[in-house]
Amino acid sequence: MKTLVYSIHGFDKPVIEKLAQGKHELMFTELPLNENTAHLAKGFEAVALFTSDKANAEILDVLGNNGVKFIALRSVGYDHVDLAKAKQLNIKVANVPAYSPYAIAEHSVALLMALNRKIILAQKLMRQNDFRLDKLVGFDLHNKTIGVVGTGKIGSAFVRIMHGFGCEILAYDIEQDHELIEQCKVQYTSLETLCKNSDVISVNCPLNQDTKYMFNKTTFSQMKNGVVFINTARGGIVNTQDLLDALNQGIVATAGLDVYEYEKPIFFYDHSNTQIEDELFEKMRSHPNVLITGHQAFLTHEALEGIAATTIKNIVEWSINGKSINDIN
Ligand code: NAI
Repeated sequence: MKTLVYSIHGFDKPVIEKLAQGKHELMFTELPLNENTAHLAKGFEAVALFTSDKANAEILDVLGNNGVKFIALRSVGYDHVDLAKAKQLNIKVANVPAYSPYAIAEHSVALLMALNRKIILAQKLMRQNDFRLDKLVGFDLHNKTIGVVGTGKIGSAFVRIMHGFGCEILAYDIEQDHELIEQCKVQYTSLETLCKNSDVISVNCPLNQDTKYMFNKTTFSQMKNGVVFINTARGGIVNTQDLLDALNQGIVATAGLDVYEYEKPIFFYDHSNTQIEDELFEKMRSHPNVLITGHQAFLTHEALEGIAATTIKNIVEWSINGKSINDIN
């Protein structure tokens, strides 16, 4: 039995290849899974997918018809897979529920610090021989209020870092983490109260039916003028046009984003010789108060090893038992 690994990249191929050695045979394609590439899975009982792959009902039908019985996701998030359809087709899906939440939490902090202390502009001015400081004033994070939406593995790692900075923490989640309340004096509150009182807001919840466009015209209008908005979770949690309007109105002073609502055809590939036909993305990335990275928050050695190890473990377990401990459907 072999597994086809879609959307393989230079950063993850050596890691996953090494960990699979002697355990399971893998074949690789750099192509993402979509309507045009689903047929490549013919002859494979399992496929391994990345966040840039698309596994909607139509594509799952093609995978099922080609004999695929197991999907190993190389991610925490599974918003790109129609789980109900997969179940209906008897295709098991497993994710990597945890792999270094620190990687993503620390990247959120990197975006926040770079924006607040104007690191990108400072570097630009430095190279221009302009040593004036007038455009580089930031604020102390100490004693500021940080609103964290989603205090799961990543959100709680972020909370602990910000607690170490001396911040007050407000949180919004459907479940409370009592350790965070005790150890970091986190105050759980409504989303509205969090929006009204936070100097910085960090999004760390999954994208699902309840969180789609959680940040929209209404929630942005509730925020303090001058808030810093960080999203390393999923683009679809934020209505990007409404965020752009909030930036232009000065409600959101700066935004640090690792994810973008319509990132799929853009991120992870070299488009240097092509035009990107996405006006909204163009407006966002050229905005002076926006810092965007291309879905790289997970990109640390520790996280890559964690993702690869669990993915291989899931596939091997499934090949022996017909199921894995991380099945999600
Ligand atoms: P987790 O499952 O440990 O935590 C998610 C938290 O969100 C939980 O506490 C949950 O109760 C909360 N939540 C769920 N629905 C909610 C709602 N409607 N309102 C408020 N809170 C809600 O997941 P983890 O590992 O912390 O990951 C969070 C998200 O981060 C993932 O779903 C994924 O989309 C994103 N992510 C981004 C990466 C990147 O490279 N940019 C890498 C890994 C994950």
